[in-house]
Order: sequence, then C-alpha cells, then structure tokens
Amino acid sequence: MSLSDQNIEHTAIIVVAAGSGTRLGYGIPKALVPLAGRSLLEHALDGILQANCAAQIIAVLPAGDAPLAALAGNHPSRPTCVEGGATRSDSVRSGLAALKPGTERVLIHDAARALTPPEVFREVTLALVRGAHAVIPVLPVVDTIKQVADDGSGTSPHVTGTPARESLRAVQTPQGFHAPTLLEAHERAAGWTPAEAAAITDDAMLMEMLGERVDTVPGAAAALKITTKPDLMLASSMLQERKPRKSADERQPARDTPLLIPRTGIGIDVHAVADSAEPRPMWLAGLHFPEDQGLSGHSDGDAVAHAACDALFSAAGIGDLGTHFGTDRPEYAGAAGTTLLTEAARLVREAGFEIGNVAVQFVGRRPKFSARRLEADAVLSAAAGAPVTVTATTSDGLGYEGTGEGLTAYATALVYSLRR
Ligand code: CTP
Ligand code: MG
Repeated sequence: MSLSDQNIEHTAIIVVAAGSGTRLGYGIPKALVPLAGRSLLEHALDGILQANCAAQIIAVLPAGDAPLAALAGNHPSRPTCVEGGATRSDSVRSGLAALKPGTERVLIHDAARALTPPEVFREVTLALVRGAHAVIPVLPVVDTIKQVADDGSGTSPHVTGTPARESLRAVQTPQGFHAPTLLEAHERAAGWTPAEAAAITDDAMLMEMLGERVDTVPGAAAALKITTKPDLMLASSMLQERKPRKSADERQPARDTPLLIPRTGIGIDVHAVADSAEPRPMWLAGLHFPEDQGLSGHSDGDAVAHAACDALFSAAGIGDLGTHFGTDRPEYAGAAGTTLLTEAARLVREAGFEIGNVAVQFVGRRPKFSARRLEADAVLSAAAGAPVTVTATTSDGLGYEGTGEGLTAYATALVYSLRR
C-alpha cells in the first residue's frame, strides 16, 4: 500500500525543535548545532521532505530565535514556524494549535532525531492510514533493564524487578496519531499539575491514558536521539556511511589521506584601533559594539573572524587570507568578517575536510566582551556551520593591547579529512 495524495493532504508533521540543547553543551539551541555543515533542524526537515507523507509541516522553534527561523524559512519543505514553550509538551501544544482544520493524522517528531530515515515517517503514516489511532517506531532493547526503588534509607536505590527483555522496546519518533484523539488528550492534560505533566514523557503515553491502543512499527538505528557529544559523533559517522562510495580508481590511496585523521591550524590577526579623527564602527567576532571606536583596515577589521579564517585555511593546508581574499579578489574588499568566515568554511569543505571546531581568543582592552560571548559564538558558529567559540583577555596594561591602540586575535582550528 502506498500513500495517496488524499492521505498526504490530511496529514501533518510537527517537528519540535525548541529545546536548548543543554546536554550537548554548544551554548546554542540544539536544532542549530551543525552536523556535516547543516543544522540538525535542516537534516530533520530533509528527511521529512524526502518522506513526502504530509501536506503541512510545522516547525516549533525557540521563541525569538532568528537564525533558526531563517534556516527553516529557507528550507524547501517550507514549514509553518511557531514558537515553542518551556517544556517539550508545551512545544507540542504550540504545534498542535497551528494544525489546519480537518487534519486527520499528525506525526510528532523530535528535531533531535535529525537523521530519521524517510521510511520511518512513511511506515508510521501508513499504519495511521490503515486505521491505527496511535503508532510509534520502536527498536528492541539491548541492555537488561531493571526497575529500582529508593527506600529513603540514604543508600542507593535497590532493584525491585527485571522486566523480560523480549517484551521491552526503546521508543523513537515520529509518533503518529489520529489528530482529533491526540488533541482531546492534550486538552485533558492542560489541567494537570506540573508533577503530573512531568510524568508524561511522550505523546503515546497520553493516548495510553485515554485507553487507546498504541501500535508499533520498526524504528531505525539512524533515528537515534542526539543528546550528548558522543551522539553527535555517531550521527556524523552514520552520515558519512550514507554517502556513495567512490570507485577504486577515484579513491586516494588510504595512506595519503587517512579517514578521520584530524589536522590543526593556527591563525593570528592584529588590527590597530582607527584614529579617533575618523569614527569607524567597531565590528568584532561578528558583532557590532556601538560604544567603541572601530579597528582600521580595508575590511571591517574583524580580527576575530579573520584569525578564525586563517586558522581554517592553515588546518586545511590551503594557504591563508591573502591567498583567498587578497587584493586580486576585489569582491571581498570591505566584506563583513562573517561573510569571509562562511566563504573560508566553504573552501575548506570544498578541499575535502569537515570542520571540528574553531577557538579564538583576543587580547585587548576593549570592547567589553563577556556579556556578548554567547551571542558571538552563535553568530560565528552559524557563519562557519561548525562550533566557533570566542574568549577574551587583557595584557595587564602591556603593549598595544594594554594601551588600547590595537588588539590581537589568536585562533586554532581542527578539521578532519573526509576523503576515503
Ligand atoms: N523540545 C522542544 N521544546 C522544549 C524542549 C524540547 O521543542 N521546551 C524538543 C527539542 O528541540 C528536541 C526534542 O524536544 O527536538 C527532544 O528534547 P531533548 O532531546 O531533551 O532536547 P533539548 O531539550 O534541546 O536538550 P536538553 O534537554 O539537553 O536541553
Ligand atoms: Mg530536553
């Protein structure tokens, strides 16, 4: 059985992407975290687009997050964007409120399961079309699972039982539902106390509480929930496995370009603060600092972004700023630091590398940076499509950095070869 246009017409997918990604620890919303140069949200939307099983796609994003709204707005799946809430279920409710009237089937999906294969979306939708009211993708459990209880004696919890492993399943998303029944379940849950609401860890549980039967379809290893850094590394290697392998003739000898051998690079940039007779805006780390006199130079003087570019070029072994953005490339004269960083990251990827991370520290008296550090990390990470972190220090009054005549930015970058 395949999905008809009519099935698709009355099906919607809500992708919840409003979480903060605390456990991943990038300091930016998890859905914005890059995986092979694309955000997790874009990967999730790619799978949904390929699955082609829903006419309406709703992306639930962190309130006021402009970078994610821009990525979603430019994605070919053309999702309706709504703002999420404090908890995952608040975010699901925001998504449900945006459903078109007459929606018969709704799939709820975590953006954190960014590599879920299109077949899983289709299997869930087909089960709903066949009449199921609730369907979840599941995988067998490999660990033995114990039930434990705390007897309050201050010792660690003790085991109270061992459910038979064959009867246990690990649950993934998308979870699919008969839309009117799920809406009713969420309406009932709206009046619950926070403790009662917190005990509900997925939407299928709400249906179980209504006495609805919940069916299962096979999940997929690739639909893992990206929660911590090792999960992101696993997802990254799964993505590489998906790429078509080159023929033996095209392949480089393995000893010349070993797989996943990291390379580091360094970049340094120094800029003087412009003469006070010529007011200039201060741009540093992709941010505008309105209270400061800007740095001199033909470009915007963003020493942090420039050092990051040089570190990337150095790591990939493809020259430096002068090689790529020199006077023979007039289109880059006056370009913003973030523009140069985006182009540098593109060139590094074109040369066959993925970017692990870039770290920059600048030494200078101004601008005052600590309050805007996370903002800088987010802006530069979005520009590079990889984690960029910026820190700042002073030189204890010594040298041009100490007098405020100029500043120095030092950057390191780590890249790894994707060639096989
Ligand atoms: N989510 C959401 N709104 C929230 C919390 C979570 O939309 N208030 C989404 C997340 O974006 C994610 C999914 O629910 O796609 C599963 O949540 P989780 O993996 O816990 O992601 P985060 O909450 O972002 O991560 P963390 O708990 O580490 O902060
Ligand atoms: Mg969470």
